[in-house]
Amino acid sequence: MTTSQTTHIVYFSPTHTSEKIARAIGEGIGMERRIETDLTLDESTSTIEINGSLTILAAPVYGGRVAPIALQRMKRLKGTNAPVILAVVYGNRDYEDALVELRDTAIELGFTPLSAGAFIGEHSYSTPALPVAMGRPDEADLGIARRFGKESLLKLERTNLPVPTFYIKGNVPYKPLMSGKPSAPVCTENCFGCGECVEVCPTHAIRLNAENVIETDINRCIRCCACVKACPNGARVYDNPFAAFLHENFSARREPELFL
Ligand SMILES: Cc1cc2nc3c(=O)[nH]c(=O)nc-3n(C[C@H](O)[C@H](O)[C@H](O)COP(=O)(O)O)c2cc1C
Ligand code: SF4
Ligand code: SF4
Repeated sequence: MTTSQTTHIVYFSPTHTSEKIARAIGEGIGMERRIETDLTLDESTSTIEINGSLTILAAPVYGGRVAPIALQRMKRLKGTNAPVILAVVYGNRDYEDALVELRDTAIELGFTPLSAGAFIGEHSYSTPALPVAMGRPDEADLGIARRFGKESLLKLERTNLPVPTFYIKGNVPYKPLMSGKPSAPVCTENCFGCGECVEVCPTHAIRLNAENVIETDINRCIRCCACVKACPNGARVYDNPFAAFLHENFSARREPELFL
């Protein structure tokens, strides 16, 4: 199967772990031209046509599914003759049905799945006091992602159309979507109103009011923790019971799983 010498890297990634994995896969492929589409802050609905490019689609796992907002943002993509490498990134607990869900979505959007990988990223709720997969993806993870990119390209080069279907771990029907009461991070007295959290929020749930005080719309918050991780003064905190639970039960290192 032949494609243009272009890799199109598409991701939704509030805390940048999916972004890092997507880029590392792209490096491993090593094509001269790389186009990046970052959907994290982009609420536009205009169609993005991807024609003939080897594509990488990466998104975080929320509750064992692809983050719903990532799927929503990906609806803009229209793939034509475009093989796709699928990557989900999860916080060392589990990815459950996310990778099969990403596969099914990619097919609906016109892409042809070529390979798939589940990678580990620092958990959105990880803090220095209660670390969960802190610092991941690390160099070892990125090395695996690069090799995965290279192997995916080799598979593409020796495959005739149509790409045969291949096994991906996960179930259909998918597990039910997460539910729960709305909640959101809050600011502590260390907040100095710099507005950095406003800039990184994928759903525009945060604003600086006329008194220079941060206000958060909890009904818009997806608890991605981009604001928490971006605050330069450690003044944004998400106090929740999951962090301690995850730290206690899911600290043992998990490794990436690849399907080719
Ligand atoms: C609302 C929410 C739900 C999550 N659910 C899971 C999960 O089911 N399993 C898991 O291992 N990690 C889960 N995570 C952690 C993220 O998948 C992980 O931190 C990922 O690296 C974040 O990707 P990003 O850096 O691209 O935003 C969840 C995070 C959030 C915010
Ligand atoms: S990034 Fe931190 S210091 Fe800046 S406005 Fe937000 S909470 Fe306050
Ligand atoms: S306010 Fe909510 S949605 Fe916005 S960055 Fe913070 S955690 Fe994410």
